[in-house]
Amino acid sequence: MSAIRTRTLEEYHADYQHSVEDPDAFWAAVAEPFTWHRKWDTVRGGEFSPAGTSTWYAGATLNLTENCLDRHLEQRANKLAIIYEPNDPKVRHLRLTYRELHARVCQFANVLKKNGVGKGDRVVLYMPMIPELAVAVLACARIGAVHGVIFAGFSASAIADRVNDAQATCILTADGLNRGAKQIPVKSVVDEALETCPSVRRVIVVEHTGWPVEMQGGRDAWYHEEVADVDKDCPAEVMAAEDPLFILYTSGSTGKPKGVVHTQAGYMVWADYTFRNVFQIEENDVFWCTADIGWVTGHTYGLYGPLLAGGTTLLFEGVPTYPSPGRFWEVIDKHHVSVFYTAPTAIRSLMAHSVDHVLAYSLHSLRVLGSVGEPINEEAWYWYDQHVGKGRCPIVDTWWQTETGGIMISALAGITLSVPARAGLPLPGVQPVLLNQDGTEIEGNNQEGYLAIKASWPGVIRTTWGDHERARQTYFQPYPGYYFTGDGARRDAQGLYRIVGRVDDVINVSGHRFGTAEIENAINQSDYVVESAVVGYPHDVKGQGIYAYVICRHGLPTTDLETQKAEASIIEAVVAAIGRIAKPDKIQLVSGLPKTRSGKIMRRILRKVAEGETTNLGDVTTLLDPQVVDEILGGRK
Ligand code: WT7
Repeated sequence: MSAIRTRTLEEYHADYQHSVEDPDAFWAAVAEPFTWHRKWDTVRGGEFSPAGTSTWYAGATLNLTENCLDRHLEQRANKLAIIYEPNDPKVRHLRLTYRELHARVCQFANVLKKNGVGKGDRVVLYMPMIPELAVAVLACARIGAVHGVIFAGFSASAIADRVNDAQATCILTADGLNRGAKQIPVKSVVDEALETCPSVRRVIVVEHTGWPVEMQGGRDAWYHEEVADVDKDCPAEVMAAEDPLFILYTSGSTGKPKGVVHTQAGYMVWADYTFRNVFQIEENDVFWCTADIGWVTGHTYGLYGPLLAGGTTLLFEGVPTYPSPGRFWEVIDKHHVSVFYTAPTAIRSLMAHSVDHVLAYSLHSLRVLGSVGEPINEEAWYWYDQHVGKGRCPIVDTWWQTETGGIMISALAGITLSVPARAGLPLPGVQPVLLNQDGTEIEGNNQEGYLAIKASWPGVIRTTWGDHERARQTYFQPYPGYYFTGDGARRDAQGLYRIVGRVDDVINVSGHRFGTAEIENAINQSDYVVESAVVGYPHDVKGQGIYAYVICRHGLPTTDLETQKAEASIIEAVVAAIGRIAKPDKIQLVSGLPKTRSGKIMRRILRKVAEGETTNLGDVTTLLDPQVVDEILGGRK
């Protein structure tokens, strides 16, 4: 229970000032009430920038699961830790108390040990959103194994890249996955991935859908058989503060996703602190974060934050529109959800349906609403406020990143100002600045610039797995002295931050990041393709859509059939390399791309055309072949 809880606007200003003036004292106070095997020698250490090797609570030893589970057993043993709501509303839900979750975590931790997984080993999880996923994540933390959850929407090839990068030895998966009306044979996707992953020795399979799977002798084992004969006691491994806790792969501006690494103590303190303060959590809250555990939001606010706080968290296996667009609201009423945290893209997809789907439910249990993943547009904000919050629930628009571990800029529910389309003020401990291109700080309000963070915070990314230099170059070297976010932002007249969007070659599709280079690499795998250029464009539901300009090997197709074949092959290449989630929304076949004489693609022009801008393309005189632009304009999708 973090000692510092900000409850009024005056306290916010005082806490903020305290956190900046004496961060050591502030973060020592926040960390005090956790269960430590040994307290820290130094609160903040290492070098924030340019080396990018911050440490937090160095010298301390702990186990996160003792903080998530054991310490609650005295007073909350029978309190619900997890409510699981299945994809199909006709299937019975499941509730696990803290006592039950503790037992299951210890049991599976023993299964991992029995299968040769030890401290520091990497375990990959490719799973539906079911309780076993939560249990397995915590079981890894129990024994000090490093978990790497891969969203079960990525392709076999994407899994293989990540498994090989992490050199994982064990994988957890299921016999199948239902997401809405979609079915994914996750086990066979894993089988395909593992053809090129020699490091994996054991695959543990949860029986979930009952679909037939092929079990490979000597490698594959059933979850239920493995847990049947193990003990429910498993002593927690004593971890050092800076031992890695998890790897989560995320896209950057290069073609290869990077493994963001978070460590034990700092992440724990940050997850708990931000969870309680942003959502102003109360003992009897039922918290629902709709994000899959495959993304960082699911890690920090689906699992760790709520459990650290001794709260009740709802895990939802399904999607907002299945079996009807009223599903979210039905689940809120069914389980008396009081704090609801979702993404603008989900809100927009539901706004497209009749509001009667919302009005059919009382939603009277709701107290606080949250948004995450991308800027929430005003229309979606007002719809959320009026129809879901009934005008009485504060909305927190939370800005953060996989790399920040937890929320950085956001209103504290009901305490600091919440204005549509603004993330708001920084949390205590967070020092955002706006930078000019040359790295000088922009002072004052009503200003726009690159968003950077001036001092370390407990949840900061520690490294990129296996390649520290990459973390250093991406985040700490561009503007020495700062963590560089890759976002542009505006500070309004009241000093509230408004995130404008990425300033690098990253597209945010439905709150998920993809590098343009990563999608281009995938497209270029198609036999039809010579070269491609991918840009984002505004999309009503997804925030940004993926627009691909592609040069075909045999020139521009002359028939519809040829065009269809080329497009199908391009989509197939993306689905194979990354997964369905990165499918281009629009493909324009072109005979050339606008390039400068030095061969650089002028994305500015491509972006404008994709956005629907047909005039004002800026200076095209430096182009090698200015005619290409007319052709592209003519063929715009
Ligand atoms: C990028 C991080 C953090 C969890 C989900 C995404 C964008 C995130 C907001 C927000 C405006 C936002 C930023 C950021 N973003 N939240 N409230 N307002 N933009 O995590 O995949 O690491 O993506 O998402 O562009 O850099 P992620």
